[in-house]
Amino acid sequence: MSDKTLLLSDDDGVLTVTVNRPNALNALNEQVLTELRTLLEGPLPSTGGAIRGVILTGAGERAFVAGADIKEMSVMTPDEGEAFGALGQRVTRLLEELPVPVIACVSGYALGGGCELAMAADFIYATGSAVFGQPEVSLGLIPGFGGCARLHHRVGPGWARELIYTGRKIDAAEARRIGLVNRVFDTREEMLDSAAATLAEIATRSPVAVALSKSAIDGSIGRPVTDALAIEKAAFRRTFATGDMREGTAAFLAKRPPSFPGH
Ligand code: CAA
Repeated sequence: MSDKTLLLSDDDGVLTVTVNRPNALNALNEQVLTELRTLLEGPLPSTGGAIRGVILTGAGERAFVAGADIKEMSVMTPDEGEAFGALGQRVTRLLEELPVPVIACVSGYALGGGCELAMAADFIYATGSAVFGQPEVSLGLIPGFGGCARLHHRVGPGWARELIYTGRKIDAAEARRIGLVNRVFDTREEMLDSAAATLAEIATRSPVAVALSKSAIDGSIGRPVTDALAIEKAAFRRTFATGDMREGTAAFLAKRPPSFPGH
């Protein structure tokens, strides 16, 4: 049996990355984080054509990821804790910077570092069993993999503060109400199928335009609108130098479907 903590599979341009430590509810220890960093720093592996989207999930029904590994953290020095936090932050940033869309698919617990990992995806799908929360203050910790930095962008500062200060857990329906989750499904299978269908739909669009819009949104978050508009203007300009834009507009005018070259 493999001792790897990540399972990878790809189908039709969609790479599914599954965090696989079911005995610890898929908690993020140094090994998982290092494997994720290595995966995300290289070209995304594929058995066929290029990867056009990523599904990030956890093994089993009980947990997406129940947080950073508490056992490992319990004996860390401040220097080790800082390095561990930096590794988790690096992984979340690498995910956010992927040029292809990432959907986090959450069944069961997405707590602490698990919620933070999910928030580094472009958006989150969940099953009715999902439970979200940032319980770090119950452990004398604070969110360290981007929760303080990102949760308020997802749900607004009021909800972010309440969730982080109380450490309270919320169910899938509430997570959807406050904007943390896009869609809720009855079963895990339905969720994964729907995520694959969304990524397939996105894959019919211009890959360059999707990547440019992703980086323009990422670069805009938290910035004054004038700065965000400057970022958007530069990305918009770049589309005019692409084959995708020439093909997309020509196809529209010729009343035919586009066939994007991807550059
Ligand atoms: N780290 C390490 N091990 C964990 C873990 C974690 N975050 N979460 C669960 N586990 C382990 C448990 O220790 C247990 O192991 P053993 O069987 O060896 O005892 C196993 O997973 C199953 O867990 P439980 O028996 O506790 O399962 P449960 O169904 O009774 O409870 C739970 C589930 C409510 C999720 C509970 O496990 C829990 O509260 N986990 C911790 C959640 C948490 O606090 N996460 C935040 C961590 S801090 C963080 O993430 C910092 C950061 O921002 C970077």
